[in-house]
Amino acid sequence: MANDEAQAAKRIEQLREKIRKHDRLYHEEAAPIISDREYDRLYKQLIDLETQFPDLVTPDSPTQRVGGKPLKAFEQVSHLIPMLSLDNTYSEEEVKNFYARIQRLLPDEKIPVVVEPKVDGVAVSLIYQNGKLRQAATRGDGNVGDNITQNIRTIRSVPERLRDGAPKLLEVRGEVYMDRKGFEKLNEERKKQGLPLFANPRNAAAGSLKQLDPAIVAKRPLGVVVYGTGATEGVDIEVHSEIFPLLMKLGLPATERWWVAESVEEILDAIHELDGIRHNFAYQTDGAVVKVNSFAQRERLGFTAKSPRWAIAYKYATERVETRLKDIIIQVGRTGILTPVAVLEPVLVSGSTVSRATLHNEDEIKRKDIRVGDTVVIEKAGEVIPAVVEVVKSKRPRDAKPFDLARHIHSKCPMCGGPIRRDPEFVAWRCENLHCPAQTTRRVEFLAARGALDIESVGGIVADKLVERGLVREPVDLFELKVEQLAKLNLGTDEAPRVFGEKNATKAINAIERARTLPLSRWLFALAIRDVGKTTATQLARFHESIDDVAHSQLLRDVLDYHEKRDQRESANEIAERLIKAGFAKRSQSKVGKDGIVTEVGPVVAQSVLDFFNSATGKKILRRLKELGIEPKSEKVSAKKTAELPLAGKTFVLTGTLPSMTRDEATEKIEALGGHVTSSVSKKTDYLLAGAEPGSKFDKAKELGVQIIDEAAFRKML
Ligand code: IVH
Repeated sequence: MANDEAQAAKRIEQLREKIRKHDRLYHEEAAPIISDREYDRLYKQLIDLETQFPDLVTPDSPTQRVGGKPLKAFEQVSHLIPMLSLDNTYSEEEVKNFYARIQRLLPDEKIPVVVEPKVDGVAVSLIYQNGKLRQAATRGDGNVGDNITQNIRTIRSVPERLRDGAPKLLEVRGEVYMDRKGFEKLNEERKKQGLPLFANPRNAAAGSLKQLDPAIVAKRPLGVVVYGTGATEGVDIEVHSEIFPLLMKLGLPATERWWVAESVEEILDAIHELDGIRHNFAYQTDGAVVKVNSFAQRERLGFTAKSPRWAIAYKYATERVETRLKDIIIQVGRTGILTPVAVLEPVLVSGSTVSRATLHNEDEIKRKDIRVGDTVVIEKAGEVIPAVVEVVKSKRPRDAKPFDLARHIHSKCPMCGGPIRRDPEFVAWRCENLHCPAQTTRRVEFLAARGALDIESVGGIVADKLVERGLVREPVDLFELKVEQLAKLNLGTDEAPRVFGEKNATKAINAIERARTLPLSRWLFALAIRDVGKTTATQLARFHESIDDVAHSQLLRDVLDYHEKRDQRESANEIAERLIKAGFAKRSQSKVGKDGIVTEVGPVVAQSVLDFFNSATGKKILRRLKELGIEPKSEKVSAKKTAELPLAGKTFVLTGTLPSMTRDEATEKIEALGGHVTSSVSKKTDYLLAGAEPGSKFDKAKELGVQIIDEAAFRKML
């Protein structure tokens, strides 16, 4: 027996060595010498032996990459050295200024800099002690991040052990990314399963790393690229450019191209050269980082409050390309709004093929004078949904006619053939048929979406099929679905069927069951009432006990009454008093509104809400919810006036990724305490809550002197 075990131990070690070697050849050198199949065979032999002799399993075995158990939450770990961010610029002029500035600070010295790719992924720190991977962490707020060691271990290009000559302590920093092919495949899969799609590879990578179950992460096609070091012991180098060969020698996937430059001209040349080749990298890049090469010089240059003086990130302009607009099709949204979508001659932008772009609405098309047959310029900003920027008028075909939406669809809803009407106060056309299947589908999708009832497994395709097969005629029908019905649901076509399956169905039904008890605010939002977004839903929920209460709201009727009778002093005053007393309104502070009041929600919203519950659809929903025993409760702050809440009157704008909460969560927290969240920074903004990789809002806030806080400060505030 012992003999058996000894033999197994030997074989296991051989297999591990072989697998490590092939991992290295495959991931680091991109030169595999065996087929995937052969590799899988070795891997399986190892798994079999380890299953037979569980005592021989060691944490550094290649099989343990996916070995961890799902976590309840990520442990928070402090960084040995803070993970900072860089100053960003889009202008070459500022790169010149940057170099001129450091030349001024270090007069009469040669200042070689390194130009390297700015990787558009998710920042990580990896700590190796005596050559073994000990910890992997996200940046978090720069000081404290999530311990994601289990997840990082599933990434095959991250060596578990460094090669010979590893220093005592080596912290490397880099980015986790998802390669484009893997990203597209993952999204295809998700589409088939009706799950929400990731907007771009970076989000997909970030979403993957947030998974608490490493088994899920193991299935995601992630990679890592490292570009520098953090804390080290026993690393003896004096310039940054020596890091790359060192990292590679140790078996780490380092940045593949970098340039040393000694003048502004050389810096700009390198930036341009990188731009020409960066789309060939497996990872996405959005710029070039320019860093002073000498560590001694870096030390003398030091830091500003937020970033080092010795580095700058130059971001490449978003790529624009020309293509032909083949057609304009019309999509029907959940409220019946008809949205024009451009059908394009497929074209490669920022590395992916684009064949559709949103055109927003008819006015936008008129304003830009976009016509079918035109050559248009499209842009993929941040690699999200592409947009049509402008028309190349000189290339317009003679016979191209101005676009007329109603004529284009023969004045009928293109989905159900129902009547359409142009909404006078809105720039949109609407399908008037409440039973339009396209609308129902979108409403089902909306009800199930994140932020609404959060029924993750019911996405676009599933909603489509549920409506198409007549299993769901209105969103609340979801609550009557049975596992068996869902399991049999064919998400494919009649010729190529693909059923939803028992497992997914059970998951979906469980999520639907959970949704029954979600609070009133979520339900009000989920019902897709016109003009009721998340903020309004939360406000309404604070002042009403139940859906019924909202449907027959005296407060909302008072709001309407007040606005109608505003000119008849007497009765308006009476209503105003009542609203103020209820905490639903306050006296206006502005000169214009003098003597008037400002209500928690305005008359338009009040009208929409009351109309909704008065309509046949609204009444039916109320009845159905009652029948189904669904009675969402409010998080009502009773009579306590919102004005007394700690964040009352404060306006927040959010940007970037927060370390430990989603933006929706942050918004909920702010609103629960009486604050508001708006989407753009202005002088009226009180706080900018900024996370990692903040967008242009950050610069705007700086410019306007708006107070910028991070998650830690925000938590304190709460
Ligand atoms: S150096 C103090 N180099 O961009 C300097 N960062 O806004 C620390 N990034 O936090 C960063 N590629 O997440 C550096 N070649 C590169 C990079 C890079 C991407 C990320 C990183 C950093 C952020 C800076």
